[in-house]
Amino acid sequence: MVEKNRKYLVTSALPYANGPLHIGQIAGAYLPADIYVRYLRLAGADVIYICGSDEHGVPITVVAEQEGMTPQEIADKYHFANKRAFERFGMSFDNYSRTSLREIHYPLAQQFFTELNDAGYIIVKESEQLYCHDCERFLPDRYVSGKCPHCGAEARGDQCDECGRWLAALELEEPVCKVCGSTPEPRKTTHWYLELPKFADWLREWIGTKADWRDNVRRFCLGWIDEGLEDRAITRDITWGVPVPLPEAEGKVLYVWFDAPIGYISSTIEWAENLGEPDRWKDYWQNTETKMVHFIGKDNIVFHAIVWPAMLHGQTSVEYVLPGQIPANEFLNLEGRQMSTSNNWAVWLDELLDDFPADTVRYALTANAPETRDSDFTFRDFGSRVNDELADIFGNFINRSLGFIARYLGNKVPEPGELSAQDRELLDYVSAQTARVSELIENFEMKNAQLEVMNVARAANKYYNDEEPWARREDDPARCGTILNVCCRVVGALSTAMEPFTPFAAGELRRMLGIKEALSWEEAPGYEPAAGAELGEVKILVQKIPDEEIDRQIEKLKAQSALADDDVKPEEVTTVSEVNFDDVTKLGLVTAKVLECDKVEGADKLLVMKIDIGGEERQIVAGIAPWYQPEELVGKVIVVVANMVPATIRGVDSRGMLLAASVGDDEDVRVITVDGDVPPGCKVT
Ligand code: 2FM
Ligand code: ZN
Repeated sequence: MVEKNRKYLVTSALPYANGPLHIGQIAGAYLPADIYVRYLRLAGADVIYICGSDEHGVPITVVAEQEGMTPQEIADKYHFANKRAFERFGMSFDNYSRTSLREIHYPLAQQFFTELNDAGYIIVKESEQLYCHDCERFLPDRYVSGKCPHCGAEARGDQCDECGRWLAALELEEPVCKVCGSTPEPRKTTHWYLELPKFADWLREWIGTKADWRDNVRRFCLGWIDEGLEDRAITRDITWGVPVPLPEAEGKVLYVWFDAPIGYISSTIEWAENLGEPDRWKDYWQNTETKMVHFIGKDNIVFHAIVWPAMLHGQTSVEYVLPGQIPANEFLNLEGRQMSTSNNWAVWLDELLDDFPADTVRYALTANAPETRDSDFTFRDFGSRVNDELADIFGNFINRSLGFIARYLGNKVPEPGELSAQDRELLDYVSAQTARVSELIENFEMKNAQLEVMNVARAANKYYNDEEPWARREDDPARCGTILNVCCRVVGALSTAMEPFTPFAAGELRRMLGIKEALSWEEAPGYEPAAGAELGEVKILVQKIPDEEIDRQIEKLKAQSALADDDVKPEEVTTVSEVNFDDVTKLGLVTAKVLECDKVEGADKLLVMKIDIGGEERQIVAGIAPWYQPEELVGKVIVVVANMVPATIRGVDSRGMLLAASVGDDEDVRVITVDGDVPPGCKVT
């Protein structure tokens, strides 16, 4: 049961502002949280829902380099884009902030560091870190890839997605610099470390009290502690981030995972300031009775259940609330393959919302939520969830019952007569189900909760079929009126019960029933509409998705992935699906004449060339040095992708990509040239 005199502080992992949001993220850390808070509000709880963009660290700088923009420009671009996408999706954050450009966040993150340092939880150490001689810099973890020393899977330098372990780049076997592909070597640098072993006993005891945590979270953490916690570097040798507040740490910043969770607090402070009650955030954060719930994906468990609680516990000036629950969701695959943003095997939220109403996406993602194990999103399943369930069960009941009232009963709530056993049975079921749904949501079982709400709509359809109001309209109008009155009650109950899952449809139900403010969770199952009240215009709630639209989405996904795979996974290109003419023309292929060509200093594989693409000179970089002497290419007319996203490769700008054929497994590479006397700048199709 919701505890009404308790405060609830709900967060969703701050998404990196380094790219658009995809449905895997949404299904893991956002939609379930929104369901939870919408329910809590309806149940009368004192709840705030806090989020914002995570804008620091290497995840941002990597993309900034790829897109030829500054980290701040990248953070701005995706912060606003993601905020907007969340709004379209119906996310009901009380505050959506960001970790850059906010006056509150930097000093607060620095204060966290200082207090931990003063309390003796931080140690400075000289250590070895991977240094790339070709790039002339220390490589942050995410700039390195290699083999995970624990499970052998291909892993990033900060984490292995396969076994979930937090790694240091130095631990990777066969490390490779992700910027230039060369092998980095260890070199000495100084960093500040959080001494996690000092928290081990406290953490073990604290997690031991969390019997209600999901097994995946509890076991993972206890296993981690038992393996032996290690000091973890919380500073980095990059320029983008919160400066380390020590004179001797000039030029270093806090590790992004140190400042990110503090964003939960700074976003709450911003919320309070915007309300004009600047101290209000303390009611939640400086109150150990608050129930704090962090919704995350499983890759974030260690940070939220071990590092973050240690950081909070180690603060000395204030006693902060600690995480009460950490519902960590598993991953959502896509059409049977792991979602991958780097090769565009992903469905982007914004694009999906261009084509489908938010409620349909919410419904399908919840119906297939990766709560206790990974699940798979397929467009066919999406189509049938929407058509066979949301439209045929929920939409159909609303449409047939309210439609009947509009057509035959003057669009007014009919007078109820005495309720029959069948009427009471349905209404009792609605009450019981409402209670059942509460339990499930409070237990973070959103998938089952939604299923039980749909069971109400199923039961209502059955009731409607069995009671046959249409057959009684003429000879027993009183009974017919009672049946439709009961239906209105159920629609009222559904307008609240569906609100967490499909808030737009729930709003439509209220409009049709003339309910101004959502009925509370408590009152909804007993809702009795005023007899004679005029209803709003009845509209179709859920449009069905035609099969052709589903086919189109599948084709689009395959085509978009083919384009991206071109660079990333050449071996898959031949197996990807067909593309259509539009997809080909998107490539912007033109002829280009090579004017100059040189080796790139210190990079064995690269050639840099000046090309003429028809009245415009460009510089491009290509990895073909093993197969060509620079002078062989000068004067040739080649084919380039002219609308390639600008990139900086080994510090050299590249604005385009040439086409080349790879013979065998890159045994030879031959640049595509043009037959005959063709001037530069001609379109190639
Ligand atoms: O994994 C991520 O997307 C991180 N940006 C999550 C941060 S959660 C929190 F700590 F802010
Ligand atoms: Zn390098």
